[in-house]
Amino acid sequence: MIREEQTTIGFHVWGAEKLSEEKLTVLRLDNDGITYAMAVTEEGYLLHVYYGKRCGDDDLTYLLHLDEGNYTPQHHNRERMGFMDSRPFEYPCHGIGDFREPCFMILDGDGMSACDLRYKSHRIVSGKPELKQKGVSCIPATFAKEDEAETLIITMEDEHAGLTAELSYTIFRDRNVITRAVKVYNRGYGDVRLQRVLSACVELPGMDYEMITLNGNWARECAVSRVPLHAGKQLTDSLRGVSSAQHNPFMALCTPGTDEEHGEVYAFHLVYSGNFLAEAEVTGGKQTRTVIGINPYDFSWLLRPEEEFQTPEAVLVYSEEGLGGMSRMFHDLYRSHLIRSYWKDRERPILINNWEATYFNFDQDKLYAIAEEASKLGIEMLVMDDGWFGCRNFDDNSLGDWVVNEEKLKGGLKPLTDRINALGMKFGIWFEPEMVSDNSELYRAHPEWAIQIIGRDLTQARAQYVLDYSNAEVRDYVYGMLTNILNSANIEYVKWDMNRALTEVGSTSLPRKRQRELWHRYVLGVYDLMNRLTTDYPKLLLENCSSGGGRFDPAMLYFSPQIWASDDTDAIERLKIQYGTSYCYPVSAMGAHVSDCPNHLLGRNTPFDTRGDVALVGTFGYELDVTKIPAEDRAKIPGQVAKYHRFHKLMSDGDQYRLGNLFKDNTYDAWMFVSKDKSEALLTYVQVLGKPSEPAKRLYLRGLDADRKYFCEETGQTLSGKTLAACGIDVGLRGDFVSKTFYFKAEEA
Ligand code: GLA
Repeated sequence: MIREEQTTIGFHVWGAEKLSEEKLTVLRLDNDGITYAMAVTEEGYLLHVYYGKRCGDDDLTYLLHLDEGNYTPQHHNRERMGFMDSRPFEYPCHGIGDFREPCFMILDGDGMSACDLRYKSHRIVSGKPELKQKGVSCIPATFAKEDEAETLIITMEDEHAGLTAELSYTIFRDRNVITRAVKVYNRGYGDVRLQRVLSACVELPGMDYEMITLNGNWARECAVSRVPLHAGKQLTDSLRGVSSAQHNPFMALCTPGTDEEHGEVYAFHLVYSGNFLAEAEVTGGKQTRTVIGINPYDFSWLLRPEEEFQTPEAVLVYSEEGLGGMSRMFHDLYRSHLIRSYWKDRERPILINNWEATYFNFDQDKLYAIAEEASKLGIEMLVMDDGWFGCRNFDDNSLGDWVVNEEKLKGGLKPLTDRINALGMKFGIWFEPEMVSDNSELYRAHPEWAIQIIGRDLTQARAQYVLDYSNAEVRDYVYGMLTNILNSANIEYVKWDMNRALTEVGSTSLPRKRQRELWHRYVLGVYDLMNRLTTDYPKLLLENCSSGGGRFDPAMLYFSPQIWASDDTDAIERLKIQYGTSYCYPVSAMGAHVSDCPNHLLGRNTPFDTRGDVALVGTFGYELDVTKIPAEDRAKIPGQVAKYHRFHKLMSDGDQYRLGNLFKDNTYDAWMFVSKDKSEALLTYVQVLGKPSEPAKRLYLRGLDADRKYFCEETGQTLSGKTLAACGIDVGLRGDFVSKTFYFKAEEA
């Protein structure tokens, strides 16, 4: 899969008559689907040769056009700048003649920012080494067994600055996936500041691409944006300290006309939960440079001699089967090689969460009444949301005081959980461990534990501050409180929430020289605590949440197999949110609940069946007071529960095909799940707006085996996969906001 080859190119040197020669070492990663090739020049420049669909075993270095024009540096320094500013680089450095977006920039002891990493050596290892940095307990990344992947580690050196950088490239055996990360080591005698250490750069030929990003806001996460590239830089990023609801750490470039099935897609995803940058630059030479990594804005990391810095991992997915192919590749990769939870392949309990049912206004009896009714309907777990601790009857106090409010829950958690367990249900609980309320015992005792700049006003959001997770003492204290609660009763699920962005980013525990490290150290602190929690409680089901999907990123998936996709539980709005989220994330990771109507956010009414069908495409649950909803809705719950049990495996393990796109046509949405062996499929159609005097909506099925015949339970028809794809089925319904599912079973071969 990974190999090294030697080649020679001939070129003209200005003024010389004879053809000169340069030796190149080619490093190539191939599997059946993709090829990634790079070349090392005699002077140690690491050039990007090719990335994309699998190509032949030819010498690809002609793509570099090194034989054209004015240079190769080894022989003719006179034109080195022309070389530096035009050739494609694997890891471009700042300040030495490449004026496009760099990946690497430092501040050395002399106050200089230029750097020049050159190839020294490489090694190939089977499998995929963990990402590690001394002093850091856990860096989330994809993983692979020895026979599932191979990794190329290229050592680069900047002799002047005394720095070594290891660029690692993992190619997965059976997937169109390359992951990349960079580790920098200070082997010199002086301090160096890392000002910018991105995870990857990929140079694509030409500029004829469209850029796809996932953007939004609170309650409107993952809206798909798609625009043609234009000259100059275009980017998506976060400066909030979290990956954010505003921009997901994802960017894809696709060829014009790419749809769900056709077209080439180069997708980039950062396994990171903090400030990120993903950028495409169309250069003066009409080539496209893409970079992704930690956002260099307000980032600076002091690297003392013998210290190291590990970047987060960038996941590169290539698809020649359009956006559907891209998504299925991400889904397979994340399900098998990123989510590590005990729960990743297990059927998740159907939960009922009391947030929209009661908000802060509950006590043990009220929760029990909800659970009792829910258990009769087949719901399997009660999740007690915000409001159970300190004096929390509203959102302006008590975060950080993780002790049970005995006015609401007499005798602590055990009496309640015992009663819930006696109903045959599991019990789960909500925390917001990274936060402290202005009005809290913790803040009064330790105001210095909040992220802050001494002497400046501290900005509140929801009357709360962010705890300084770069400080191990703070983490230990919070962890002690969490485990006190978790050990006090039979708690099998935690919803880990995070409800504000970071401001006045300063730490009372970091030295002045390391203050700008706080953005990243905060994220590492969060990883540390999540790692401890999931290691100490291996069977705990951890659900991540950040005001909904504000931290729906691959790094969180490493710890929590499911993430609450949005506080917007309206079934119709959810279609768009879940559509965009499904670009990179499998439905087994998407928290989705049936809530009450009129919807609390929008005031919209939708049928209970539609709410069920939409929530079914996720980690299914309820978020309503089941004792108060209309009897006819309640009566539908056992049917929905049965539907979840019946189809859960098909959806969580199968291949997803998107058949509708509300961003383009707001009248309907539809999707399919097809089992890996293509023996069964579930199609869901949601009619958002009915239309008069038009034929019924026809959907063309995808992913089925063309040669097998499928019986459809709803229509009673048996048709071949070929016919279902070519001729489709009519799914039109009467009404607005209505939905229907169609189950297809292949006849025995
Ligand atoms: C956030 C979450 C909600 C709920 C509330 C509780 O907004 O996204 O699901 O847990 O906090 O305060």
